[in-house]
Amino acid sequence: MLGVSRTAVWKNIQKLKEEGYPIEAVTNKGYRLLSVDEADILDREQIAAKLTTVWAGRPLIYKEETGSSNDDIFVLAAQGYPHGTLVVTSRQTAGKGRRGRTWISPKEGNVYMSILLKPDLPAEVTPMLTVVMALSVYQASLDMTAAQPQESAARCRFGIKWPNDIVVSVDDGPYRKLCGILTEMRMEDREISAITIGIGLNVNQMEFAPEIAENATSYGLALGRKVNRASLTAYTWNHFEENYSLFTQTQDFSKLHDAYEQGLVNKGRSVHVLDPRTPFTGTAVGINMQGELLVQPDDGSAVRTIASGEVSVRGVQGYV
Ligand code: BTN
Repeated sequence: MLGVSRTAVWKNIQKLKEEGYPIEAVTNKGYRLLSVDEADILDREQIAAKLTTVWAGRPLIYKEETGSSNDDIFVLAAQGYPHGTLVVTSRQTAGKGRRGRTWISPKEGNVYMSILLKPDLPAEVTPMLTVVMALSVYQASLDMTAAQPQESAARCRFGIKWPNDIVVSVDDGPYRKLCGILTEMRMEDREISAITIGIGLNVNQMEFAPEIAENATSYGLALGRKVNRASLTAYTWNHFEENYSLFTQTQDFSKLHDAYEQGLVNKGRSVHVLDPRTPFTGTAVGINMQGELLVQPDDGSAVRTIASGEVSVRGVQGYV
């Protein structure tokens, strides 16, 4: 009826299988597409089908591989692409981490993505955007678990390690990192011309190098099953668009504070504040409206305010 040969159908089916579509073949009958929801296909169509945003992820550019999606965003910004442009990729060859480190970005079922923002905000409040992003990934993680079978979801506790690491604990074990966020900014004539927030999500990577295995994990490892990357990607931007709007209304955390603290795993825990001048130990009590961590020092002195970027915070008994 379609005027295509059996070989042509076979070739296309092979291609779809390589892209991750679960297809069953039955001799003398044909092919059958099994549930797409349970498959892990990362492409433009699968993400776009789940996006409910007005501007975040519009346009959405999917690349099988790139150098660094943060770098791609600045190239696109210079070409005039709009606020909300999103680059998503399955592999980076020059992924960048915080403090000049490399973000190893293998093609092992992960997601690497960056958004272009052209905000009308004073430069001093822009570091808070990273924290807004962390909240969005945390909320997307909860959406993702809600879609998993109860027995595996119940074993996982997701949270935020201040300021912007998304972590998970399985069976009350130690918290491990699932995601890294890197925000970069370009200025022109002392005005912000473009910001990118880049996110590396460990989704279905099942093995980690020994040097990072102690503190890193993936959604797939934690939940004990493959996670749909397109859904997790779309949920993240659906939340981000809403959180960004709440943030820009007040340019602080007044409207996001409670949601963030619900996920804050440091809250009520002993922490080491690794300030190179005056390191100290105390109990994290929450965040303020600037997204700074409030720590009650063990020596009984007044609560200290810790700005992100200034110092690192580590759990007294481990990473959190
Ligand atoms: C960290 O060091 O924790 C931050 C890592 C950020 C990695 C992401 S992956 C997508 C985007 N592109 C990059 O080159 N880096 C960020």
